[in-house]
Amino acid sequence: MKVGVIGAGSIGLLFASYISKIFEVTIYTRTEDQAYQINENGILLRKKAIIKQSSVKALPISSWKGIEDFTIVTVKQYQLSTVLEQIKHLSKRPKNLLFLQNGMGHLKLLEEIKGINLFVGTVEHGALKENAYTVSHNGEGATNVAIFRGDFSCLQNFATKVPADFPIHVQEDYYLMLRNKLIVNAVINPLTSIFQVKNGELIQNKYFFRVLTSLFGEISFILNLDHPEEHLRQVMGICKKTAENRSSMLKDIEANRLTEVDAILGFILEEADKQEKQAPLLEIVYYCIKGKEPAKGGEL
Ligand code: PAF
Repeated sequence: MKVGVIGAGSIGLLFASYISKIFEVTIYTRTEDQAYQINENGILLRKKAIIKQSSVKALPISSWKGIEDFTIVTVKQYQLSTVLEQIKHLSKRPKNLLFLQNGMGHLKLLEEIKGINLFVGTVEHGALKENAYTVSHNGEGATNVAIFRGDFSCLQNFATKVPADFPIHVQEDYYLMLRNKLIVNAVINPLTSIFQVKNGELIQNKYFFRVLTSLFGEISFILNLDHPEEHLRQVMGICKKTAENRSSMLKDIEANRLTEVDAILGFILEEADKQEKQAPLLEIVYYCIKGKEPAKGGEL
């Protein structure tokens, strides 16, 4: 099976590196220079003290023709519209697309894609892009995937063939799968970014933990969670398991990049609006992050 990976950030490099043991992989990069560097060096995967090299073909995204059997889209949610625009102009439509964005803001963009099998997924791995062709795998987890629309045989086939040390679990209900991860990201990512701390500190520092529980309470009310205590336990468990990690949003802020706050908190604020519910804390947290984003961050 030929597999395309769109985006060569930490998750794109991680996926390409692992699945290239089984599939013929082409990774599509934003710049020609990154494609050149990957073609020259392969992808280096660092796990603790061990470094493994995999040889993967790399091309700039402008050369993507959608010819692979299965394509994994790993770009951030705010870069998705560019990829979706490109799909409209491909002479051959891709057959199967798996989207791995945080949050749920991308679902309404996916509604617009017709005639392609669409899948969504959540990634629990901790990964850090060290340079254009090196990624360190510093938190082992799994990937959950589910069908969004179309025929799911290709997804099933893909998930059963991936290497055992890089598991992909097929879930029944895409909405519940994304919502569970959304809750985790909505609490951990913005708070670690505002307090500028690693994930573990949100439960180790009793004052930060009070903010965490208040924010969680508001989210639970807006999303009408049936068993909020289970979700809170999950959030705390992930803080513990990834205690030494810096969240992806904190890394974005530190690198002066845009964040996924619109896909995460923006989505929940829209839900609050639809249900005419107040969300004062969520709004404050949302604007704190927007204010830290580059460029247009300060404009109203
Ligand atoms: O976005 C992230 O950083 C991760 O999804 C998580 C689970 C919050 C761990 O850092």
